[in-house]
Amino acid sequence: MVHARGAGAYGEFVAAADFTDVTKAKFLSQAGKKTPLFVRFSTVVHPSGSPETYRDPRGFATKFYTEEGNYDLVGNNLPVFFIRDAIKFPDMVHAFKMSPVTNDVSDPNRVFDFFSNLPESTHMLTWLFSDYGIPASYREMDGNGVHAFKWVNEKGEVTYVKYNWSTKQGERNLTQEEADEIQSKKIEHATLDLYNAIQDGNYPQWDLYVQMLKKEDFDHLDFNPLDPTKIWPEAIAKPVLVGTMTLNKNADNYFQEVEQSAFSPGTLVSGIEPSEDKLLQGRLFSYFDTQRHRIGGNFQQLPINAPKVQTTTYNQDGAMSIRKQTGDVNYQPSTNKPEVVDNAKFKYSTSAFKDVKAVQAKISKPNDFAQAGDLYRSFSQKDKDNLIKNLSGALMGVKNPVIVAKMISHFYQADREYGMRLAKELNLSREDLEKLL
Ligand code: HEM
Repeated sequence: MVHARGAGAYGEFVAAADFTDVTKAKFLSQAGKKTPLFVRFSTVVHPSGSPETYRDPRGFATKFYTEEGNYDLVGNNLPVFFIRDAIKFPDMVHAFKMSPVTNDVSDPNRVFDFFSNLPESTHMLTWLFSDYGIPASYREMDGNGVHAFKWVNEKGEVTYVKYNWSTKQGERNLTQEEADEIQSKKIEHATLDLYNAIQDGNYPQWDLYVQMLKKEDFDHLDFNPLDPTKIWPEAIAKPVLVGTMTLNKNADNYFQEVEQSAFSPGTLVSGIEPSEDKLLQGRLFSYFDTQRHRIGGNFQQLPINAPKVQTTTYNQDGAMSIRKQTGDVNYQPSTNKPEVVDNAKFKYSTSAFKDVKAVQAKISKPNDFAQAGDLYRSFSQKDKDNLIKNLSGALMGVKNPVIVAKMISHFYQADREYGMRLAKELNLSREDLEKLL
């Protein structure tokens, strides 16, 4: 079970402008339009009841209860991801989670054994082992959609977007020492920080931005913009303010609302579609399967997950079915009930790329290291020093020197100084590394 430990709250989203020129999603059709929502923040790897001070990406999942049904934006605090091939996700989770032998979690021997074979993880690992890997609280972190999504307007025109939630509380992270200090006293500091702020009327807010690209822009870039291991630098796509979210109500019952909430990148409204990103395509299937296992067959009928508007569905039966089901016709199309028709408005846009084949192969322009190097060089001296300390500290726990050498070679290819500093901390000379690789 991933994202087992979480905290949640209700709130409201207010659109900043009319976006009908780029998306037909109704909740974005007018400046000032309000949409109720529920957010669940989470840690990823460690089990329920684990400390919230661990180095780990944080989940940032938002359920918009729109007038057209629910839209889930299921993102993370960090802007990129470790892998780009969905089939590797279960392996990645296994590598991070408990050893089947020792039951030790996040054992660097297993984590780096996996990543030493996946150079595309270099960018995300650089984020994770910097102080961004331990946000000070949920209120003080940003959120990111990570993937490219498609916004589609009434004319069927597609604009690719990437989402960013920018915290109005200011972004703040913890050093490893600060996290250790908090952890020695409190393991649920982030959950309580969020709960208490809302109880005190100190409502946290985030601005939602999107960056937009057209398919025609893709060819000019030296990376694939549908690759979730990449950001879109602001120089190629300026962030546009979409609206502001305010969290203003705590859950009354933690289990019923925060634990039983279920988000999925497959929960979409007309006008917002998944892009062709292969990791995202895999996510579309995975969440509902997990939720049927984790919560039960009719989890979408629970009040926290059900849309606030009347929906028409012929899904039926299963344990704890509570949705009102009437009538003999529970199929479509029907001659007896012809009024329920396919609505062309809800058809997905067509992907139109030149010479595209669906293949099990690496994407074009993988460019595994450049953005990791850019990120390293963008850090202040203090951030660089902390990254080297955190990362070399973790690599020191790896017993197989070949794995250490492979990891250093990835960081070296991102930035020469980055790799050399790690090698120095780990007492490995150039000759040692060459012998090992
Ligand atoms: C192929 C890649 C991925 C797969 C197969 C996958 C699968 C899953 C599954 C099965 C869950 C548990 C759902 C539940 O129990 O309700 C989950 C939770 C979650 N995932 Fe992913 N995931 C992937 C990548 C990502 C990425 C790239 C992000 C961020 C953009 C992300 C963000 C989240 C969040 C925020 C949650 C927790 C939602 C909550 O609080 O309930 N995942 N993921």
